[in-house]
Amino acid sequence: MSIQAQINSLRAGIIGTGFIGPVHVEALRRLGISVNAICDVPDRVAAAAARLAIPRPFASYQELLKCTEVDVVHVTTPNRFHCEMSLAALGAGKHVVCEKPLAMNTRESARIVKAARTSGKVFAVNYNVRFYPAVLQLRHLVSQGELGEIIHVNGSYLQDWLFKETDYNWRLLPQEGGQLRAVADIGTHWMDTVSFILGSGIQSVFADLHTFHKTRKRPLGEVQTFARENAKMKYAMYPVQTDDFASVLLEFANGTRGNLGVSQVAAGRKNCIRLELYGSKKSAWWCSEEPETLHFGNRDAANETAVRATPAFGQGATGFMDYPPGHVEGFPDTHKMNFRSIYTAIATGATTPGLHATATDGHQEVAVCEAILRSHQGRKWVKV
Ligand SMILES: NC(=O)c1ccc[n+]([C@@H]2O[C@H](COP(=O)([O-])OP(=O)(O)OC[C@H]3O[C@@H](n4cnc5c(N)ncnc54)[C@H](O)[C@@H]3O)[C@@H](O)[C@H]2O)c1
Repeated sequence: MSIQAQINSLRAGIIGTGFIGPVHVEALRRLGISVNAICDVPDRVAAAAARLAIPRPFASYQELLKCTEVDVVHVTTPNRFHCEMSLAALGAGKHVVCEKPLAMNTRESARIVKAARTSGKVFAVNYNVRFYPAVLQLRHLVSQGELGEIIHVNGSYLQDWLFKETDYNWRLLPQEGGQLRAVADIGTHWMDTVSFILGSGIQSVFADLHTFHKTRKRPLGEVQTFARENAKMKYAMYPVQTDDFASVLLEFANGTRGNLGVSQVAAGRKNCIRLELYGSKKSAWWCSEEPETLHFGNRDAANETAVRATPAFGQGATGFMDYPPGHVEGFPDTHKMNFRSIYTAIATGATTPGLHATATDGHQEVAVCEAILRSHQGRKWVKV
């Protein structure tokens, strides 16, 4: 059987059908992978199964894990369920793709690393930003020494969907999302992406966290991710303990220095990841709001721009882009390409690491979050 046929014989089951669960379903289907089962809470699962045309709905994840027609389980529920569901899925003999952040704390993420290692199954974390072609190309350029030694990295991950005091989501509550919010939710995407590009993890941090809305208004009733305000909603006030925005200084294991800004209260920035790598030969920068273009900076020659899939862009994303130049590949495509990497590893039984994030990578980001919190509390540099 060809590798493609082996990939297409794998069958997925999804736990969680809110914002990101359907993104997984769509990406898997674009790869020709069947999504055989879905799970959500009892009052949501039937409607989700009908909307997404998935044949086997389950109102409990334990029931989904018994389904013999599921080989790979995708955990797309709020953070507090990731550890329990991932461990149970590995225990049921399934491969696992878990959403980020991998767990609520390093006690949980270390348990997942251990279970994944002994399971003989593939365990991946959905750090999808790695799969923007520009990010893969930057990684290639750094590994080839094209930018020289990377002196420092600058960037940010900015959003505005929690800008208003009435904006509500489970992520605002530490018991649902973890002690850190903006940093864990989106900052870890940036930190994973830059570590991936550099081939070097974060070893020390100095962080300053802030909560602009010290109290917020919680709508009475459940609200979905990215839901809009509604004039008829009734609210209850609650104190906020998680970060709206943060500034973090970083030291990578290879000596590169970095600085990162994170915010979920940055009006006008819907979902903006910006990376700037400053090398001893030249600079390179990229922004997710303009995903197809890589920029290069020179001290003496004119600066350059390169459009994806043109010769000027380079070959570093070969195999992980499907469309010609000018036919934009963006957020949904990064999931498709991440799953291409993960499902290829499952189909081929690959023992060497692929491009996707592993349980160890997910654990590292949770450890960085804990160091960031300790640094903020102690007002000092902290080792990861
Ligand atoms: N990689 C990315 O780009 C990306 C983007 C968004 C979210 N995420 C991650 O995905 C996860 C989910 O986020 P979201 O924005 O989709 O949240 P969401 O609130 O929109 O959806 C979560 C879903 O899980 C369901 N659920 C809750 N408890 C459950 C249980 N016990 N069993 C089954 N289903 C249950 C909810 O009913 C809901 O449908 C989070 O960990 C988040 O960090 C990742």
